[in-house]
Amino acid sequence: AGASAVIIFNNTSGPINGTLGEPNDNFVPAVAISQEDGERLAASLERGEAITANVSVTGGGIVEETSHNVVAVKEPTHKKKAADQIIIVGSHHDSVSGSPGANDDASGVAATLELARVLANMPTDTEIRFVTFGAEELGLIGSYEYVDTMSEDERSRVIGMFQMDMVGSRDAGELVMFTVDGQKNTVTDLAAAAGVRTGTPLTYGQEGRSDHVPFHYAGIPAALFIHNPLEPWYHTPEDSLDKISKEKLQESAEIVGAAVYQAARPDTPALD
Ligand code: PHE
Ligand code: ZN
Ligand code: ZN
Ligand code: ZN
Repeated sequence: AGASAVIIFNNTSGPINGTLGEPNDNFVPAVAISQEDGERLAASLERGEAITANVSVTGGGIVEETSHNVVAVKEPTHKKKAADQIIIVGSHHDSVSGSPGANDDASGVAATLELARVLANMPTDTEIRFVTFGAEELGLIGSYEYVDTMSEDERSRVIGMFQMDMVGSRDAGELVMFTVDGQKNTVTDLAAAAGVRTGTPLTYGQEGRSDHVPFHYAGIPAALFIHNPLEPWYHTPEDSLDKISKEKLQESAEIVGAAVYQAARPDTPALD
């Protein structure tokens, strides 16, 4: 099950800061637009308007593409006191035009899938949602759409959103966590504790620019996990599988997984 957003591009009133490339293997159209325009599109979406942008398209015409979020839900094992709580583990499955996106963000998707595999059969008091978002690179469109379609009740039950975006590059720096306002929250506290236990102390700082942002603005504790500084291959055709470090990917998944499980595990041993 996934939410979708329709992105309509037309060239009736001239080009803005964009180009249309060849379709690639990703779920989203190979359209590069500025972050500013992406944010404008996401804001339009929030207001329930049609999302229309003018881009330079050789030959003219209207290009309409649909992007999807992919959502897997692990139900709580024990419907006890914390049964109503939700944890979200996220990443994005699109990449920029011309880049294979091995680190940005197939690394996060791989870690999301692995955590889903590992946690699927663990007892938990909380519901865990594993979400890979579409159209992140076009201005966080998938994640804005996801948060927009949650009910107030649902939003209030999310205790943390863990976003993994670029967590496996051999050539990038240390794993750090970023929040939109630069403040600690439930997610950074859990991950800091997990980092201490696994021997990888985590620093945190302030940064938006990934799918944790819409969750933050909806009042949900959220953080981005990313290696910092970025690798030189960021958003280039060189962001390919040979640059991925299995060790760094595993370390990222272990820290986020340990943090998630710390919050999700039953408070008391299961008796049933
Ligand atoms: N969200 C960015 C991307 O997908 C990654 C990023 C996040 C880069 C924060 C810098 C700072 O490209
Ligand atoms: Zn990117
Ligand atoms: Zn990314
Ligand atoms: Zn039980």
